[in-house]
Amino acid sequence: MARRPSIVFVCQECGAQSPKWLGRCADCGAWNSFVEERAPDPQASAAAAHRYSLAGATGSARLYSDIEIEQHARLTTGIDEFDRVLGGGIVPGSLVLLGGEPGIGKSTLLLQAAANLARSLGPVLYSSGEESEHQIKSRGERLAVGRAPLYLLAETCLERILEEMARIRPALVIVDSVQTVFSLKFQSAPGSIGQVREAATQLLFAAKGQNVPTFLVGHVTKDGSLAGPKALEHVVDTVLYFEGERHHSHRVVRAVKNRFGAVSELGVFEMTAAGLRAVPNPSKLFLAERPANAPGSAVLCSVEGSRPILVEVQALVSSSTFGNARRMASGIDQQRLALLLAVLEKRAGLNLVGDDVFVNIAGGMTVDEPASDLGVVAAIASSVRNRVIPASTAMFGEVGLAGEVRGITQASLRVREAAQMGFSRCIMPEANLDPALEREPFRRAEDRDRPVGAAPDDAALHRAGACELIGVRTVGEALDFLMS
Ligand SMILES: Nc1ncnc2c1ncn2[C@@H]1O[C@H](COP(=O)(O)OP(=O)(O)OP(=O)(O)O)[C@@H](O)[C@H]1O
Ligand SMILES: [Mg+2]
Ligand SMILES: [Zn+2]
Repeated sequence: MARRPSIVFVCQECGAQSPKWLGRCADCGAWNSFVEERAPDPQASAAAAHRYSLAGATGSARLYSDIEIEQHARLTTGIDEFDRVLGGGIVPGSLVLLGGEPGIGKSTLLLQAAANLARSLGPVLYSSGEESEHQIKSRGERLAVGRAPLYLLAETCLERILEEMARIRPALVIVDSVQTVFSLKFQSAPGSIGQVREAATQLLFAAKGQNVPTFLVGHVTKDGSLAGPKALEHVVDTVLYFEGERHHSHRVVRAVKNRFGAVSELGVFEMTAAGLRAVPNPSKLFLAERPANAPGSAVLCSVEGSRPILVEVQALVSSSTFGNARRMASGIDQQRLALLLAVLEKRAGLNLVGDDVFVNIAGGMTVDEPASDLGVVAAIASSVRNRVIPASTAMFGEVGLAGEVRGITQASLRVREAAQMGFSRCIMPEANLDPALEREPFRRAEDRDRPVGAAPDDAALHRAGACELIGVRTVGEALDFLMS
């Protein structure tokens, strides 16, 4: 008897399955999220899984001590900041997901990397389900791709993409985007949870089986998470997010998961007519437009991944004309702002009832580290009291509910960055003050190229001057110091 293809209903939010349609998912609570999908043939899937197994796997268990470590020679994308986010370049056979909002520059970045790799390593396959070959080529002309062995494929069928991969044997594959790809095995629409999961899984087998690094572009939903199943993030080795504001030219790529490197590592780019350009000194960029002598502006030192970045936080407090006061945060967490405002009211005696409070990290950066608390608090207090914070002062520290300033990690890294950027004073948690830090000779921007640890000559030390470190225990102490 011919088997009837079984129908399942799948929640597009969480992947839960049900034999019949449901109005509300019992697992994740999403409304109207069930879509009819045809269950894949279990025999076919098992055969496929058998065909592709991880490279080098023998099928039987091996003794830990018998396994030799593979030295992953990483491939460079030719873009320093991109290599940095990846943890030092592309690991052969890895599957990387790059997510980001529409028009942020995902295709641009990957086309630039593809062209660089094609020049240095040989054929690269760029498969797009969103743009025609002509569209991609006209972008490529702008990016000066030139004569590199770069293959363009305008295709949405997964099986065809895999065929072309087998034919061209590329050194790198890019699939733009995973939501447009569909497999002939499923009858649901491209972008549905079943299709996205199948595409990612098949491309994972291909990447591992042929040892070809593969990049997937992923769309993000309105709330900023990657569209499609959360499972997608588990399948891939690395998840990168492309962030930035449409109205600013700079973009940030952040690693949120990386099996081969540190997470929250950051790459900073600037969007130009000739594509994305790496920004080697982000602090300079983020402080470039800092207003002079304006109340409500403070500089905080945050650490993203392994890199310290100075950013300006701006606050504006004004009396509310309507009954309910507004509190708006951009670049920091809204909840965190509410908490810091409560601390300021209760522990530092600021009266903010009936005031609108706006807080913004200049330049569209996002900081989500507790160490940025002190800067936010100082900017708000500076606006309320209409007192300017000296332009040469930087700060960092976590603020607790009792109004205490708590120690944070990597203090010396932050101080060094502040000193390099020419700041002469750092307000920091007292707990982080230690004699070793105070003895350290700080270097300025002009000494940046000098290797870390090399003894500076007397002249350099003289130029660097001293970055004065001021330890504070409470928010009150910090504000007294800043605004006395
Ligand atoms: N001539 C140009 N000069 C400067 N910037 C440009 C130029 N042309 C395009 N751009 C920038 O490139 C961006 C589009 O980049 P890209 O197509 O790589 O984005 P994407 O993330 O792939 O978008 P999508 O989600 O639509 O695929 C535009 O938003 C614009 O900022
Ligand atoms: Mg695109
Ligand atoms: Zn669900």
